[in-house]
Amino acid sequence: MKISDSIRYVGVNEHQLDLFEGIFDVPNGMAYNSYVIVDEKIAVMDSVGEGFGEEWLSKIQEATGGRKPDYLVVHHMEMDHSANIQKFLEVYPDAKIVASKMAFVMLKSLFGNAIGDITAKQIVVADCATLELGTHQLQFIAASNVHWPEVMFSYETAEKVLFSADAFGKFGALDVEDSEGWACEARRYYFGIVGKFGANVQNVFKKLEGKSIEKICSLHGPVLDADIEKYLNYYRTWSSYSVESEGIVIAYTSVYGNTKKAVEKLAEILNAKGAKKVVVVDLARDDIYECVEEAFRYGKLVLASTTYNAGVFPTMREFIELLNERNYQNRTIAFIENGAWAPAANKAMEKLLEGAKSITFASTKVSIKIAMTDANVAQLEALAAELV
Ligand code: FEO
Repeated sequence: MKISDSIRYVGVNEHQLDLFEGIFDVPNGMAYNSYVIVDEKIAVMDSVGEGFGEEWLSKIQEATGGRKPDYLVVHHMEMDHSANIQKFLEVYPDAKIVASKMAFVMLKSLFGNAIGDITAKQIVVADCATLELGTHQLQFIAASNVHWPEVMFSYETAEKVLFSADAFGKFGALDVEDSEGWACEARRYYFGIVGKFGANVQNVFKKLEGKSIEKICSLHGPVLDADIEKYLNYYRTWSSYSVESEGIVIAYTSVYGNTKKAVEKLAEILNAKGAKKVVVVDLARDDIYECVEEAFRYGKLVLASTTYNAGVFPTMREFIELLNERNYQNRTIAFIENGAWAPAANKAMEKLLEGAKSITFASTKVSIKIAMTDANVAQLEALAAELV
């Protein structure tokens, strides 16, 4: 695949993976992107995941027409991108590795003594350093914690291409058609993987100000080569924890279906009252990171939990912890609890969220004992009136 006359795609598609990073469901597989810039000097941009070394090296050879790469630029040391660095050096022993200081520490941790002494092959780059390739020049941008601390982006000045490491990445292999569009799986990826580090993403955006960007080459997902401002705006919204779309998410747990009935009733009332968008998710059965994504996408969240061990249901606790870990903030939250003899989930959920910033708690709290009563329906009406 050609990105331009000088920039070629040499990445691979993974379809055998059960869970990405050991936790994320990837029904459409995953792409590990790598690129080659061919100029007077040749730079390979990142490696690919374990098991794809031979395919990647063969693509490099084809992209360079058999010329030997001068540099392997390592933007990120997580193993989905670094697994084949040693193999690369075995095939191209004269090439130099270009990476941040911390990336070289991690490289040693990953390969140990097996990679040998690479001191003479290291080019350590810091923020604002440059690398001349001929007509192409790479400017390095420290992007700490987007996603790991050693991460760097690079900006290629001649063709205005941003190599953005994990940022702007998404789930899904490139040989599977994505009918949902970029944002759906990019949002799940962002809030699942990078969501905690919004402040770091914002810091990188300050460094990108004034740079004209015509293409974004991420380590996962498609090359973005049109409507760049649209993608930048998604990242501005997500990293600032702003509300992306007006709407209400109802996230519930239900053991025998009574809490589910209350949630369905609330959704019906909200829709009748003209709510712009109501999204209902079952925390025990839906993809939990889809649920996290929805909570960050919309501005209002209703948490409906069965009482369990005098507290919240385990899947609800996990969900709230996932939100807290990602600095959930700037939202309105409402509670519904159910309990056969002593409902206690509302108080417990509010306590779990006490450290969250800029949260408005709805004053109507719904409390059900097993099956919904007329009084409960009146509570749901009052809650809906507060939310719409
Ligand atoms: Fe795609 Fe953070 O690795």
